[in-house]
Amino acid sequence: MSEFAEQLKKIRAEAVSVLQKVSDAKELEAVRVEYFGRKGKYTLTMKGMAKIPASDRPAMGSLSNQIRNELTQKIETVASQIAKKEREHQLLSERIDITLPSRHSQIGKKHPITQTFEIINSIFHNMGFQIAEGPEVELEYYNFDALNTPADHPARDLQDTFYVEDGIVLRTHTSPVQIRVMEQEQPPIRVIAPGRVYRRDYDISHTPMFHQVEGLLVDRDVSFSQLKGVLYSFAQQMFGKKTKVRFRPHFFPFTEPSAEVDISCPFCQNGCRTCSGTGWIEILGAGAVDPNVFKSVNYNPEEYTGFAFGMGVDRIAMIKFGITDLRLMLENDMRFSEQF
Ligand code: PHE
Repeated sequence: MSEFAEQLKKIRAEAVSVLQKVSDAKELEAVRVEYFGRKGKYTLTMKGMAKIPASDRPAMGSLSNQIRNELTQKIETVASQIAKKEREHQLLSERIDITLPSRHSQIGKKHPITQTFEIINSIFHNMGFQIAEGPEVELEYYNFDALNTPADHPARDLQDTFYVEDGIVLRTHTSPVQIRVMEQEQPPIRVIAPGRVYRRDYDISHTPMFHQVEGLLVDRDVSFSQLKGVLYSFAQQMFGKKTKVRFRPHFFPFTEPSAEVDISCPFCQNGCRTCSGTGWIEILGAGAVDPNVFKSVNYNPEEYTGFAFGMGVDRIAMIKFGITDLRLMLENDMRFSEQF
């Protein structure tokens, strides 16, 4: 046998035994280069073909092809074995134990203010009130003028009200919604208007943004005693059957007569910190709709009467949930909201 043929067979035997020891893709690639790379053993040996006598060439050609095919095949086989092994290894190492208990993701809670709004809304809904809304950036006209609040009223002072621009304010109460509703509809009217309001105030018990729910009822022959009945019923549903309600004379430009309304302190019998030792907590302002307000929406005050009230939702939430610091409401701390 020619030296050339012998050389090729040696390469084959050697390559076959090397391939048996290969254990990963990197090693396999090194072996491929060692034999079939540009300077590989097989490649270099094949350069000797030029010196083979023409008569031997067909035989040598077919031998070298056969060896190359055989080795290429083997390399491919080993490659697919390695790939399979690696995939199995990966599947094993990335195995998920589906019997492990899951880690629970934290579930949010409704903010106490939201919860309080929902309770208030549902109490009044059950008494036949519908929900109305108005803008937080409001015309001075709706916030003050139409509510019988003259230009020289102290509430209109820059010290108390956020002015956006001339004639436009951040509403200081939800009462402008009364006007918007009455402009749109004719009596009988029975609405509440929950929402945010803004005043230039900031201390332990005041934040520049807070929440109110307005109430408005207009019809023929509406009396102050009906206002009392509605608010008694609300207070007892909100704070419990034992709750007492007290009306104190007060003044609002848009109601006449007017009152501030207190509930008996749910935390004590005869005075604690929450009620400043008085046994009573103020929760809202109310009164009979002033005839001047009816005139600004073209209702006939001889034909219709009504009552209105506006309650402080933050205060009510603090009482309802026993929260002592108003600022906690604004911190968005889950440890806080989780408690309610
Ligand atoms: N708007 C008043 C306030 O913010 C509350 C109020 C509403 C009083 C309706 C009477 C009638 O203090």
